[in-house]
Amino acid sequence: PEPGWTTRADVVVIGSGIAGLTAALRIHAADRSLKLLVVTKDVLNAGSTQWAQGGIAAALGPEDTPDQHLHDTLVAGAGACDVEAVRALVTEGPDAVRELIALGTRFDHHEGELSLTREGGHHRDRIAHAGGDATGAEIQRALIAAVELAPEIEVIQHALAVDLLLAGDAGVAGVTLHVLGEGQRDGVGAAHCRAVVLASGGFGQVFSQSTNPSVSTGDGLAIAARAGATLRDLEFVQFHPTVMYLGPDSQGQQPLISEAVRGEGAFLVDFGGDRFMQGEHELADLAPRDVVAKAITRRMLEADKPHMWLDARHLGAEFWERRFPTILAVCREHGVDPVTELIPVAPAQHYASGGVATDLDGRSDVAGLYATGEVACSGVHGANRLASNSLLEGLVFSRRIAQVLPQELREWQAPSGDDPRRPGLVDGRLRADLQATMTTKVGVLRTAEGMTQAVEWLQACDTDAGAVPGVDGWETTNLLTLSSALAQAALGREETRGSHWREDFPERDDVTQAGHIDTRLVDGRL
Ligand code: SIN
Repeated sequence: PEPGWTTRADVVVIGSGIAGLTAALRIHAADRSLKLLVVTKDVLNAGSTQWAQGGIAAALGPEDTPDQHLHDTLVAGAGACDVEAVRALVTEGPDAVRELIALGTRFDHHEGELSLTREGGHHRDRIAHAGGDATGAEIQRALIAAVELAPEIEVIQHALAVDLLLAGDAGVAGVTLHVLGEGQRDGVGAAHCRAVVLASGGFGQVFSQSTNPSVSTGDGLAIAARAGATLRDLEFVQFHPTVMYLGPDSQGQQPLISEAVRGEGAFLVDFGGDRFMQGEHELADLAPRDVVAKAITRRMLEADKPHMWLDARHLGAEFWERRFPTILAVCREHGVDPVTELIPVAPAQHYASGGVATDLDGRSDVAGLYATGEVACSGVHGANRLASNSLLEGLVFSRRIAQVLPQELREWQAPSGDDPRRPGLVDGRLRADLQATMTTKVGVLRTAEGMTQAVEWLQACDTDAGAVPGVDGWETTNLLTLSSALAQAALGREETRGSHWREDFPERDDVTQAGHIDTRLVDGRL
């Protein structure tokens, strides 16, 4: 697309969740002379952060230590974490959360102390939460309030990042944007800059059912890949075990029933009332997420049922209202009263553990391109992210980027670049079929046969036939790029590890399969 308008900044941050807004605020605090632009595809609070229920994990309790948090994170990651990245996460995590509190985030307290709970895979109470089960919304509120107090940080809403502008080996020179309804900057334009921080979240919309909001179409991963950046660990897609089952025709974002509900004593049962997580793992209902998701899926297959049940009736009305007001309201909206009834639950896509490969300071392998939060693969999640480590990752790694980026900018020239990567556009009407293919062939249970069918189907998708330039076409193009990369990575990993479950390779293989699977596009193709 030819830019109809242009603007200039030193740094463009793409995304406005915990990762994006923390990056903007911290870079601004580190060097007030830098011109910062935050662009976001919808409004500031439309991303995944707003939806986070359980909380944010950090070793803040009296009996907890970063080392214990490190241990739990590595166990969940099933041998695929980068230990140094995890060490940075868990040692800097407590200060990062204290900083969020200083910024104005109101976490829940009990008798004057920060109230901490437990979720799957954690051996200590270390999840700070807010508003009971509205942690992400409270963090998002506090961050937006802080950004509003810094008018030097410019924000453009309703701005889809289309592609990066590149200046050869000098790297990033800007980003093209498609902006809707923002006055002078309407339509396709270009923001010229010296560095881009990708903080655009995950790609849940690759699948038919996800806990992610509709904006999670993997745009950041796709534009990074088209710019030559390496994507890593794409096959490690996390399926949350307890997503409310709304019937076979329900598509798109589905209601999450936080693990914190099990952390407070709820348990899974099958149609015969059997508590099937007991005996499955030493932590039973609070086993790591992949273990619980697999156990539920197995029971669903054995019983030929589309869901299992979560029993949280014994928590009682008063506790439900105080501790989980959001989930209570959502369940009731869908006709289930968890105080008196079982909640139907099934696994659904929840989180991309992989992403744009970065070093410990958020640098990708394209000069001037940084990534943080769910869009990034910093190495902290490995094959399966530990519960409530995602908000923490965005927070800690955005702080780390802000520690290095201003200095690095001082050493760089301002390159001018153009947009050499124009992917063939895909017709937006392809989206539902693509999601159905990915859900059935590259979902919780994977086989070579199913994934080969998916790869062939994706390869046969026509680009340009009937495609209209615009948000839907660009998003669907990004979904196709990511689905192809994900299916091929998953086909290539011939073992079962963490959230990657191969029916034809049921064992973990540390001898031949221990490394990462990296994806790079060449001339826009895999
Ligand atoms: C949850 O509350 O169960 C989700 C937390 C997370 O994804 O880390």
